[in-house]
Amino acid sequence: MTQAAGEKATARRRGEELEVEIESLAFGGRGVARAEGLVIFVAGALPGDRVRAEITKAKKRFAEGRAVEILRPAEDRVADACVHDGEPCPGAPWQGLSYERQLAQKSEQVEEALRRIGGLDGFELEEIEPAVERWRYRNKLEYSFGERDGEPILGFHARGRWDLVVDVDDCKLGSERGNAARNSVRDWARSESVPAYDARSRRGVLRNLVVREGWRTGQIQTRLVTSVARFPKPPVDLHTAIEGDSGGTDGPTGVLGEERLREELCGLRLEMSHGAFFQTNTEMAERLYAVAGEYAGLSGSERVFDLYCGIGTIGLTMAKRAGEVWGLEIVPEAIADAERNAERNGIENIRLFAGSARTGVRPLIEEAGKPDVVVVDPPRAGLSQKIVRRLLECEAKRIVYVSCNPTTLAPNAAQMVEAGYTLKRVKPVDMFPQTPHIECVALLEKGA
Ligand SMILES: C[S@@+](CC[C@H](N)C(=O)[O-])C[C@H]1O[C@@H](n2cnc3c(N)ncnc32)[C@H](O)[C@@H]1O
Repeated sequence: MTQAAGEKATARRRGEELEVEIESLAFGGRGVARAEGLVIFVAGALPGDRVRAEITKAKKRFAEGRAVEILRPAEDRVADACVHDGEPCPGAPWQGLSYERQLAQKSEQVEEALRRIGGLDGFELEEIEPAVERWRYRNKLEYSFGERDGEPILGFHARGRWDLVVDVDDCKLGSERGNAARNSVRDWARSESVPAYDARSRRGVLRNLVVREGWRTGQIQTRLVTSVARFPKPPVDLHTAIEGDSGGTDGPTGVLGEERLREELCGLRLEMSHGAFFQTNTEMAERLYAVAGEYAGLSGSERVFDLYCGIGTIGLTMAKRAGEVWGLEIVPEAIADAERNAERNGIENIRLFAGSARTGVRPLIEEAGKPDVVVVDPPRAGLSQKIVRRLLECEAKRIVYVSCNPTTLAPNAAQMVEAGYTLKRVKPVDMFPQTPHIECVALLEKGA
């Protein structure tokens, strides 16, 4: 959507402020407003809001901005539940929308992407799976250090502000336990007077903190990212891993606590290295994998390729119902985790390989033979056309595509349809309440 037909748009300048009325939501979650023929995408604003918006990017045909003040909230706006230092939580940009409205928007966005971007039709869009927990669902949160009145603070960057950190006491996206872990690292930084790193002056020590949690095991892992500097020993009982060199003999380096995080999922006992991918909503990951399992339609004898397999989660959950599973993943530590996970759970019919989907599929076919079912679960960028061509060479009966971005799923699915597959079913699963992000599973079958 850009300027209205026949209307002459007035260009805007970066930094300019103006009052606008939000009409709808754009893909990706920003509010859409119009001012003198120009469409403006406003972050931090919801349909029905009247806001003062600052222009952050000015183009000829559209502009981007952020709400600096809500002058009149939409009538159906839900009061913000997660606020830090007076700022609505940047990790929960849709908290002002009722949950029912969030679900409807997400479902619509999946459908729109497939129909408009992919030109796809005739598929069954199943009802969106709502999240079990609307708050306190994230098993991983990443924080930045900043400074206020000479004291370290630890929280999130304010929306659209790389230079401003808002202090966090309780983020309602994370568990109470995870919040307590973050606060104890901040308290340590304050009591030991360890300064935050300042990107402008390139001075200071503390950059980021990642708090990861085993939802079912109760284990907490914190990873501290620092500059090269000396600093006192942080609380070890938090399984603190340090990235960045202490640069001296008295400061800590390397991993101080336990290196791998333990989790339980779909009846499996899993372990993961801190660099390995793991779904951030444990409860909903189970639902997602259940849908993938159903779509795979396994009867016990199939050969399954699990591409982009991470620590092996999807393949391991399918292994009992498959003849054999072959996993491929680019991060070697994740493959090492996957191998240990298979062993720990007594799963013997899975083989795992470190390598890229771009170059690894052909050798996999040579080694394993052609699969009956291919599961793909790529990052947000989706699959390149070349990788789709490699998948097509598998000639699998079914392709189960787990996607965290319907705008990249759509062209990938369209390429598969062009090559003779039919998009049968799509099920959105809400892994990320209070945000515009949506995960979905799509089933493509060979032939009509
Ligand atoms: C969305 S995650 C899915 C992981 C796993 N299926 C799960 O559910 O936990 C995507 C994975 O793809 C991996 N990856 C990224 N690019 C890749 C590539 N070119 N080839 C193979 N794996 C890749 C990432 O390291 C990550 O583990």
